[in-house]
Amino acid sequence: MIASRRIVLGVTGGIAAYKAAALARALVLAGAEVRTVMTDSATRFLGPATLAAITGTRPVVDLFDDPAVSPHTDLAAWADLVVIAPATTATLARLAAGLSSDAVSATVIAFAGPVVLAPAMHTEMWEHPATVRNVATLRDDGYRIVGPAAGPLAGGDVGIGRMAEPDDIVSAIDAALAPGDLEGLRVLVDAGGTREPIDPVRYIGNRSSGKMGNAIARAAARRGAAVTLVTTAEPPDDDRIEVVPVETAQEMAEAMWRRAPEVDVAVLAAAVADFRPARPADRKLRRTDGLEAVPLEPTPDILRGIAEMPERPFLVGFAAQVGDLAGAVDKARSKGVDLLVANDVSKEGSGFGTDTNEVVLVAPDGATETWPLLAKDEVAERLWDRIVALRGEEAPT
Ligand SMILES: Cc1cc2nc3c(=O)[nH]c(=O)nc-3n(C[C@H](O)[C@H](O)[C@H](O)COP(=O)(O)O)c2cc1C
Repeated sequence: MIASRRIVLGVTGGIAAYKAAALARALVLAGAEVRTVMTDSATRFLGPATLAAITGTRPVVDLFDDPAVSPHTDLAAWADLVVIAPATTATLARLAAGLSSDAVSATVIAFAGPVVLAPAMHTEMWEHPATVRNVATLRDDGYRIVGPAAGPLAGGDVGIGRMAEPDDIVSAIDAALAPGDLEGLRVLVDAGGTREPIDPVRYIGNRSSGKMGNAIARAAARRGAAVTLVTTAEPPDDDRIEVVPVETAQEMAEAMWRRAPEVDVAVLAAAVADFRPARPADRKLRRTDGLEAVPLEPTPDILRGIAEMPERPFLVGFAAQVGDLAGAVDKARSKGVDLLVANDVSKEGSGFGTDTNEVVLVAPDGATETWPLLAKDEVAERLWDRIVALRGEEAPT
């Protein structure tokens, strides 16, 4: 979400201004274009040259002594999002009152898009009735406020007032940039490869890392959905996602089938074993036991089970293919899905464990659409764009 977005970072005069340099760096590393604006007091805490070196452009500090004729409106017209970190007591008061008396507040008041504020101040300043009133007004006006956190403050005090950490501010920016088009939607995602026990220590598994399913769950949560992720893999570190850990195809099927009737959209991105050992040993098998063969039996078909539910959600399946797509087209036609996402796991950059994926969308009538090689996060965003569009077409007029 942050990659190639235009972000104006405003820095005001608090001791936490030194952390604004780390925030600027994190945004640049995430692929954003970053421009900066500082209050006079901020320049006492952080050198403008530092922000200039990190972002590649000089901060605007003085509205009347800048190469641009109208730097605040230029920045506002350019930005997708403005973040103020740290936001001082004084700056919060100015913004709550609608004052535009310095380069930072003038830029914010000239800007019509999302604004994230990261307040930082001593506990007494944060708890002052004027600040409490101003923060309530700012929330009402639609500003997004991240932090402050509790912890050690400048001068040895401890309490609420520490600026949120740069990573948390980046997450708040990410959320603010996401379209909230999944708000109110309940989403169920499965991810990872199942493990089918041979004995208590060995299993038949596959190479799925869960990254694609994680990206889909994260994107849905960012866009406002209530997300449940049923997974065998390490889940994303995102407290908006309810995680249901499972191991086997049977456990995954039970978890998915129980929840599917309650949700609006189910995306089945897990690599589920088709077969499992029919009689797993209840103790560790030893070499001396000998083992000529492991008899297998089919696992439950999670996709079909959901497709056949009388009250089924909008259903998206994934199909890992090796080579041609004929199997995926057959699966899309026969399984009763609304959309199938096929990928050739033998292709470079498209297999299990990679951060990228090259997918082909297959419609229930077999029509295909090939997407280029994309980051899995980007595949997830585009997939949600498509699901939103397809559900819109289905909705009664
Ligand atoms: C050493 C020092 C540290 C300060 N730290 C903070 C702070 O963390 N938060 C805050 O709201 N004000 C802090 N102030 C006070 C602000 O710098 C002062 O209110 C200033 O007018 C803020 O202006 P600005 O919002 O235009 O940057 C500090 C002042 C000094 C001298």
